[in-house]
Amino acid sequence: MARDTTSDPLGNILSRIYRSIVPRSIIPKTDADRRRTILEFLVLHMRPVRVRRSTLRFTHTFGLGGMSLVLIGLLMASGILLMLAYDPSPEHAYQSILSIQDGMIFGATVRAVHHWSANILVAAALFHLLRVFFTGAYHGPRRFNWVIGLGLLIGILAANFTGYLLPWDQLSFWAVTICTGMLGYVPVIGEWLQAFARGGTEIGRGTLVLFYSFHTTVVPVVLIVLMAFHFWRVRKARGVVSPNPQDSQEDDDTEKVLTLPHLLVRELAVGLTLVAVVVLLAALFDAPLGAPANPGMSPNPAKAPWYFMGFQELQIHLEPLIAVVVLPVLGALGLVLLPYLHFDHEMSGPWFLSKTGRTTGALAAVVSLVVTPLLILIDEFWLQQVGGAGWLAVGAVAAGITAFAVFLSKKFKPEKAEFVQSLFILFMVAFAILTITGVWFRGPGMALVWPWIGGS
Ligand code: HEM
Repeated sequence: MARDTTSDPLGNILSRIYRSIVPRSIIPKTDADRRRTILEFLVLHMRPVRVRRSTLRFTHTFGLGGMSLVLIGLLMASGILLMLAYDPSPEHAYQSILSIQDGMIFGATVRAVHHWSANILVAAALFHLLRVFFTGAYHGPRRFNWVIGLGLLIGILAANFTGYLLPWDQLSFWAVTICTGMLGYVPVIGEWLQAFARGGTEIGRGTLVLFYSFHTTVVPVVLIVLMAFHFWRVRKARGVVSPNPQDSQEDDDTEKVLTLPHLLVRELAVGLTLVAVVVLLAALFDAPLGAPANPGMSPNPAKAPWYFMGFQELQIHLEPLIAVVVLPVLGALGLVLLPYLHFDHEMSGPWFLSKTGRTTGALAAVVSLVVTPLLILIDEFWLQQVGGAGWLAVGAVAAGITAFAVFLSKKFKPEKAEFVQSLFILFMVAFAILTITGVWFRGPGMALVWPWIGGS
């Protein structure tokens, strides 16, 4: 078994800081003490006793899973404070937000911490998913944890979306109207789904009570249960995937160091830095609050929250049934089934899997970066003047993707994992461009505009 000494300078500095902060009497002295400490503390129990030294490198995980946990902690703490003063009724909701903002000491800061943590959490969880995907950490013992992670992502989006309505201002009222309106495109059960999501036929008291209950009880409970399950599975898989593919024997204890202090000190450093960043953002920028909700007057443009904006943009170009039902359902199914596909080689560890993976991935990113904006412009200024434009665009996109897939297979003969990764990059970059277009390049009437002369 490896000695608990490390040649990495960052580890030494962090350990020294840890030893100078934590009282000597409670730092475990021997390996056996440390093992016992880990097993005895509920929080430490979520981590394996030893982890591979190579997995400690910041650029291997970017600490994104831990960051998501810290953000959820901040959200729960600030959310409980907000709950003490918020009134979930259409008559008083907006007023109660105003009194939190203007009438309570640190009220605006607590609200801003909640706002920034929530938005950064969506980004952190998405980037964490990308990290796991691009290091192929969804095979073998991590298979089911990928599915639990997807459940967490849906929970995070649900928490954000249900919280979005609570200020009951124009921005939130109309964003929720647009998003729940998209459900109407689901065949057969669309109307029922929409009425269910709205807690009635219109957005009103029923919607606010439903969203408030989900936001403050149902979703947090689901998140806590799924997170406990998620951490337990990481521990069962003996920590995160190793960046070196040759370290495939999970039982090999060489090159391992003790979690306490090496991993925990790093996690603490990342966590505290993140808290500082969120508090600073909250001190500098308040959470937005528009005019009170007015069901009779829609703002122009009326937009979905940024994380659903890609779908709203897609709906402008493609047949709505394809944009907001078929593609999201296929995408979700693909993500759930991904770890259960048959791969000849379960490639995992290094970023982007292999040399071929990096080449085909970069090619997919460049193609998507060039073609997506071009398709948006062609559709906006040419195709949309023709009848049946939505279906024509669906045909053009399907033909483009097929041509790219055939070219990729013939030219590079990639492994299945490399092929799937390239298509994933193609879609992710396209979705990111659609999101950016919707958020910054759409103005009144959802027309294309330059952000500095009329976008939002
Ligand atoms: C609340 C949201 C989440 C939290 C708090 C969380 C937390 C964590 C932590 C702390 C780790 C270990 C360290 C690290 O990789 O940074 C981890 C690993 C992992 N997470 Fe998450 N995660 C979340 C969401 C997700 C999502 C959205 C996915 C993907 C669908 C996912 C899939 C995984 C997998 C497969 C591992 C094991 C990776 C490996 O062994 O290298 N997680 N998660």
